[in-house]
Amino acid sequence: MLGLGLLTMLFIILVMLIIMTYFIRNVNDQNSKDQDNEVQHNSFKNSLSNAQTYVYAGIVLTCVAMITVIYFLVKGTPWEAHLIEWMNIVVRWMHITFGIAWIGASFYFVFLENALNRTKDLRDELAGNLWAVHGGGFYYLEKYKVAPQKIPKDLHWFKYEAYFTWVSGFCLLFIVYYFNASALLIDKNVLDISSFTGIGIGIGSFVVSWIMYDLLCKSPIGKRNILFTVIGTVIAFAFAFFYTKVFSARAAYIHFGAMLGSIMVANVFFVIIPSQKAMVKAAKENKPLNPKLGKNAGLRSLHNNYFTLPVLFVMISNHFPSTFGYKYPWLILGIITIGSAGVKHYLNLKEKGQLSVWVMPVSVLILLGAAFISAPPKDPGACNETISINQVSEIVNKRCVSCHSSKPTDDFYKTAPNGVMFETPDEIVKKKDLIKQRVVITKTMPQNNKTNITQEERDMIRCWINQGASIK
Ligand code: HEC
Repeated sequence: MLGLGLLTMLFIILVMLIIMTYFIRNVNDQNSKDQDNEVQHNSFKNSLSNAQTYVYAGIVLTCVAMITVIYFLVKGTPWEAHLIEWMNIVVRWMHITFGIAWIGASFYFVFLENALNRTKDLRDELAGNLWAVHGGGFYYLEKYKVAPQKIPKDLHWFKYEAYFTWVSGFCLLFIVYYFNASALLIDKNVLDISSFTGIGIGIGSFVVSWIMYDLLCKSPIGKRNILFTVIGTVIAFAFAFFYTKVFSARAAYIHFGAMLGSIMVANVFFVIIPSQKAMVKAAKENKPLNPKLGKNAGLRSLHNNYFTLPVLFVMISNHFPSTFGYKYPWLILGIITIGSAGVKHYLNLKEKGQLSVWVMPVSVLILLGAAFISAPPKDPGACNETISINQVSEIVNKRCVSCHSSKPTDDFYKTAPNGVMFETPDEIVKKKDLIKQRVVITKTMPQNNKTNITQEERDMIRCWINQGASIK
């Protein structure tokens, strides 16, 4: 009852906030019409836009509060898993959309920087220009060496894409891994820690990695590209190793990706945007620009550019058990990072019109190396006896149906994961290829080996499948 009351109250607040946004916009429109006093007009406009931002923040917070109340209302009922699933879809969708906008803009500006015409017919104050055609229109862009004489009133900033990507990603981390820490974050066969400790280590590691990275950038090493790359890569490997020794392999992968992603956003938040703000301020006050600001921002931007492909690869590898299912998961993680950063390096060189013969082939070879070392062994052991479906059913009953059935008895999964059930021999046979992949090759099922399957049992399943998976 209390919950429903609270929900109604939040809903009324939400409606009021939405009405307020219309009200503020009307005032804004009205104000734009009479522009007699520019200074007064500007300060009024600023406070209006601040008010609008607060109202938007209020709307988001109210929605979060409503979802939290709904969560507590359905907790312990069959709707709990359903709600989490929908939150998972919606937040994931937001995360991907913001991420595309952010990385898209980042790629676009790196492309601009690389492809600018820097020599032909340039005014003195320009660093370069570029013609482009897109979506049925011609565009002409100019880059200033330092700053224009007068900073224009409407200046576009690119920052919210980055912030929203991070916020939605962080929410997703909670929805998928932290709410279900005991099932997904922690693997007792790796390290037996409490959910609370696991979450603390996860979040703490993001802070530590940022501090280390930031110090490294600010140290003299930051100016020496090759040395910085080598030391940075070693540290990244160390984090990958650390994560796989603390979390389940899959959670380790997502934490590694989230760590790189967090560094990227922190670069935007703590370095790039503040530098740009200082530059705009100096230009407005007609003060000389500190060239270090632009250089610093440029360097962090370049690092971010190299992080993009590794982060994307790591994020999707999370859905492919042959990556994190390898017996040294950190090694695949490291290889993917280096190989995909190499691909990015090639693209950067190419945009600058530089010939790079070996960068792409070597990067691809490195990536193929990951596929090669994680391949299943050719001869995993002989099958000396014929395995019957009864023996397999027995194993599956003991180790799988606690999750994979119409009425799971598992303490966490209340519906069959991915809708996969193994209640009849037919259902087992239909999924034999997936079973081989998950149980025999990558050993990522049973999840975190919660039901303690033995290697012998895995071998029996393998032999049964190799012998033709007969149900007679
Ligand atoms: C603790 C619960 C649990 C147990 C026990 C378990 N699984 Fe799973 N299984 C899951 C979850 C959760 C997923 C979906 C997430 C994923 O793919 O990792 C899944 C996915 C799968 C998939 C992939 C389905 C798809 O559509 O891609 C297969 C195959 C599978 N399990 C087979 C098995 C087999 C065989 C066993 C027993 C040897 C087993 N599982 C035991 C939880 C479990």
